[in-house]
Amino acid sequence: MAHFDNNNRESWASRTGFILAAAGSAIGLGNIWRFPYMTGEHGGAAFLIIYLIAIVLIGYPVMVNEIIIGRKTNRNPVGAFKALAPQTPWYIVGGLGVFTGFVILSYYAVVAGWSLAYIFKVIASTTTPGINHADVFVGHITSVWEPIFWQALFMVLTAGVIAAGVVKGIQRCVTVLMPVLLVILVILILRAITLPGAGEGLAYYLRPDFSEVTGRTLLGAISQAFFTLSLGMGVLITYGSYLTAKDEVPGNAVSIVGLDTGIALMAGFAIFPAVFALGFEPGAGPGLVFITLPAVFAEMPLGVFFGILFFLLLSIAALTSAISLLEVVAAWLIDEKGWARGKAAAMMGIIIFIVGLPATLGYSVLSGVTTPILDMDLLDTYDWFANSIFLPLGGLLAAIFTGYIWGARNAIDEANKGAVGFRIGAWWGFLIRYVVPVLIIVIMAVGLYDLF
Ligand code: TRP
Repeated sequence: MAHFDNNNRESWASRTGFILAAAGSAIGLGNIWRFPYMTGEHGGAAFLIIYLIAIVLIGYPVMVNEIIIGRKTNRNPVGAFKALAPQTPWYIVGGLGVFTGFVILSYYAVVAGWSLAYIFKVIASTTTPGINHADVFVGHITSVWEPIFWQALFMVLTAGVIAAGVVKGIQRCVTVLMPVLLVILVILILRAITLPGAGEGLAYYLRPDFSEVTGRTLLGAISQAFFTLSLGMGVLITYGSYLTAKDEVPGNAVSIVGLDTGIALMAGFAIFPAVFALGFEPGAGPGLVFITLPAVFAEMPLGVFFGILFFLLLSIAALTSAISLLEVVAAWLIDEKGWARGKAAAMMGIIIFIVGLPATLGYSVLSGVTTPILDMDLLDTYDWFANSIFLPLGGLLAAIFTGYIWGARNAIDEANKGAVGFRIGAWWGFLIRYVVPVLIIVIMAVGLYDLF
């Protein structure tokens, strides 16, 4: 079957355009905030090993699957399933992805807004002696208008990039920002590991402690693999749809996974040595980045400078991820509903901002509102539905689709088109038909069982 024609659809302007955009999507809050903390909590290097296995067994095959569905059809997730399986309900899997992108971006923009605000807040935090860093953070998220302002600003930036187009918007943005991100991260690592006492943090991060490995560690490793690689909702179907049959896939997917994992590992090297060297606890959740780190910077020579750099890094990582989420929604409206790109970006930017407001207000006007059963605040509830339900479900259904409907053989042939060097083989079909579905079902079952 020929590639589906799609007149005047954009393509990446270079091979690195696609890799940087996909790596930009993958590298985000998940790498710089979640990964180091998960690793530390779950036995350091022991978690790392399990996570790397999850990346190979689930992350890589699912990534290739999404990219080829996109490249084959040159369509958004809904249109892609319609093209591959006409007159069937499989397009609903694409629809689920578009919906999930909507939900993730709505709360992602809230946390990204905190990060933008902290580029400035960290100045006062690091230069005011005796300041209480927890009060600063809580003060920020509980003040009604301030976080809304930064969330709105972040959405404007995201929508602006999407409105500018695939090459002039997304590709240009990641081409400038990803190298900046790398440079900032390297500077922060050099600072952290040269602090006196850094060794203790390195030990905490790298000591393989298998005694702390439990079922939850496995769950944690796999959910981290999905989230950090931007899998399960069609980001890579959409980005893959801007590839042509001449572009290669198996090797590019290796590069994307490698960049994402490398940056996550590096974030750990920037954070733990500094936290330990200055005598802080590697606390959990948002606190580590927004409370502990400003306290760490306050103690450090030239801390203001490194503090600003850190939140710039976090904001850049968040922006290049957010644009991928909005692009999925925009591509659906452009392809399926015939909307102009600018209109899709602007309208969806506004609506997603509004949908995210309860998550922001959950810390101020709506504080104390928790969801039944989950017993989580509103932002955590958005996050839970997206990451524990919709992403694994999306990845599972897409794997079943390819393994049993489209056909693993067809998919392997498609994936190897344009491949130079590394190719996938029958092993990939085995992973996508058996290993990926079984592992995802078991993990979701255990996760839901845990809840009730
Ligand atoms: N991968 C990003 C991170 O690590 C988040 C993200 C962007 C994402 N797009 C996604 C997660 C799509 C799941 C699906 O922060």
